[in-house]
Amino acid sequence: MVTPALQLTGLTKRYDSGFLALDGFDLTVPDGEFFGLLGPNGAGKTTLISAVCNLIRVTSGEVSVFGKSHTRWEARKMIGLAEQDINLDRFLDVEETLVFHGGYYGMSRADSRRRAREMMDVFDLRSKAGVRAPALSGGMRRRLLLARALMHEPRLVILDEPTAGVDFELRIELWQYIRRLHDAGTTILLTTHYLEEAEELCRDIALIRDGRLLARDSAENLRATYDAATLTEVYTKVMQDAQAAVDARAQAA
Ligand SMILES: Nc1ncnc2c1ncn2[C@@H]1O[C@H](COP(=O)(O)OP(=O)(O)O)[C@@H](O)[C@H]1O
Ligand SMILES: [Mg+2]
Repeated sequence: MVTPALQLTGLTKRYDSGFLALDGFDLTVPDGEFFGLLGPNGAGKTTLISAVCNLIRVTSGEVSVFGKSHTRWEARKMIGLAEQDINLDRFLDVEETLVFHGGYYGMSRADSRRRAREMMDVFDLRSKAGVRAPALSGGMRRRLLLARALMHEPRLVILDEPTAGVDFELRIELWQYIRRLHDAGTTILLTTHYLEEAEELCRDIALIRDGRLLARDSAENLRATYDAATLTEVYTKVMQDAQAAVDARAQAA
């Protein structure tokens, strides 16, 4: 069997507050997949990603990235992460942001500079090379975030709501970048709450809520299973069923 890009086994996260954000989550994402993780606000998407990238302590369960435990640097190096929050260093300009990132990931200065120039070309940031993050437009910051995530040529790219609050033109542009990346063999894990976006881009989709996996299949199969014309209809049905189950448990208690 080919090693999957990502494997979660019984992944559980209880925050210090006592809140259970992920509840025994099992998920396998094959190498080369374009995977969509969908769910309402608070479903646990960002928590799952933070666990995968070893940014939070997990309560129990296992995570492996191309067969390596997520706590290992080898695993972290294979991941490119564009976080939901735009976390750019306000004191670095565009080029420094990219070059320093390359340095953190062990690239030589020459490689890092070459790759930074390449990324600035791809993401149309060349003319902004010397501009610091606070002086960039929102769209440029989003592009820089993605460029930075790709600097060290990760095999798994994780994009947490990359198109939230992004205008139509940039959304289409980002889709093109992400598609090209996937065509080149990169595994993509995308979270979004734009269902049309997931339907358009993702070959494989997981619906999650309250830290649990509710459904997982191709958009086509999901539509067939739930006898629905669109993914939006599937989503509505799955979330309603989940709510009904919660209500039934509450009544029984
Ligand atoms: N540091 C934290 N401490 C306590 N609860 C948290 C923390 N971070 C997230 N949560 C809670 O965990 C749940 C899942 O959040 P999150 O993973 O951000 O969801 P999503 O990304 O799907 O919107 C939410 O109810 C959120 O309030
Ligand atoms: Mg989130």
